[in-house]
Amino acid sequence: MRQPRLLVARRLFGDLLEPLRAHYRLDVHDSDVPLSPAALTARLQGCWGLLASGTERVDAQLLAACPDLRAVSLVTVGFNNLDLPACQARGLLLSNAPGVLTEATADFGLALLLAAARRVGEGERFVRAGQWQGWAIDQFAGAPVAGTTLGVVGLGRIGAAIARRAHHGFGMRIVYSQRRASPEAVALQAQHLPLTDLLRLADHVVVMVPYGPDTHHLIGAAELALMKPSATLVNLARGGVVDDVALASALQSGRLAAAGLDVFEGEPAVHPHLLACPNAVLTPHIASSTLPTRRAMVQLAVDNLLAWAEGRPGPSPI
Ligand code: DGY
Repeated sequence: MRQPRLLVARRLFGDLLEPLRAHYRLDVHDSDVPLSPAALTARLQGCWGLLASGTERVDAQLLAACPDLRAVSLVTVGFNNLDLPACQARGLLLSNAPGVLTEATADFGLALLLAAARRVGEGERFVRAGQWQGWAIDQFAGAPVAGTTLGVVGLGRIGAAIARRAHHGFGMRIVYSQRRASPEAVALQAQHLPLTDLLRLADHVVVMVPYGPDTHHLIGAAELALMKPSATLVNLARGGVVDDVALASALQSGRLAAAGLDVFEGEPAVHPHLLACPNAVLTPHIASSTLPTRRAMVQLAVDNLLAWAEGRPGPSPI
């Protein structure tokens, strides 16, 4: 029997893909440059499966043009690149990579919070530029972090891992907002608040909610106006959850002290107003990027495909 065809839409770890060859004919787009929607559609002709990241968009239009596609396995936990109703209407097998990136991403959340609040990026650029003339009493004075209040918007797996670090490591009080109270909150003595109350109360805010129509610009000009002027905003979730233009304006006007951003609207493009903000620490969507974590993400995506090839349910269905 002919093996089903599988398109691997990104350069991943080649050694981890090898076991797939026992079950699938692989077509590997071995590049960090994503396929355009048209190229993806063309490459998917005759493919049963797609192994992709969070950037390849699978929507009704693509599905209509790729009638053989039956399965999509993502190496990312975020799956806002999938049009779920369209995928479900087709009955696609779908999987993502939850769990394996929680700790690495939470570490990075703290890194961004500390870097932004304590002005690490500004200080580092200052030293490299040869501008440092010596110690000064209020040089790059930042905002305190330890012992302050952290607002976590979305106390899911990663949000809770960030909150644990902040609470147990930095003695921070945790307040959080999301639709329902979280079971994680008890051990953290975390208080469940409406978003507006959280924004008013928190000394620093971390955003960790999935992106979708209901979270588009969840943090916009009106929400930023509620935050303390000394506060830091960290976005590790997805571009589009925060209104980047409104954020840049708040950072430029001094309405908000600092931001740490790993994700951007329309990335890899970053809004020029944000690029011009010295008080924003900007990183290229690397929160989960340790080698063991990125390998675990790929392994989980591969494990789903191996299970499907044997007619079993995969370990992490969407
Ligand atoms: C994810 O898994 O959704 C991350 O954003 C990618 O690193």
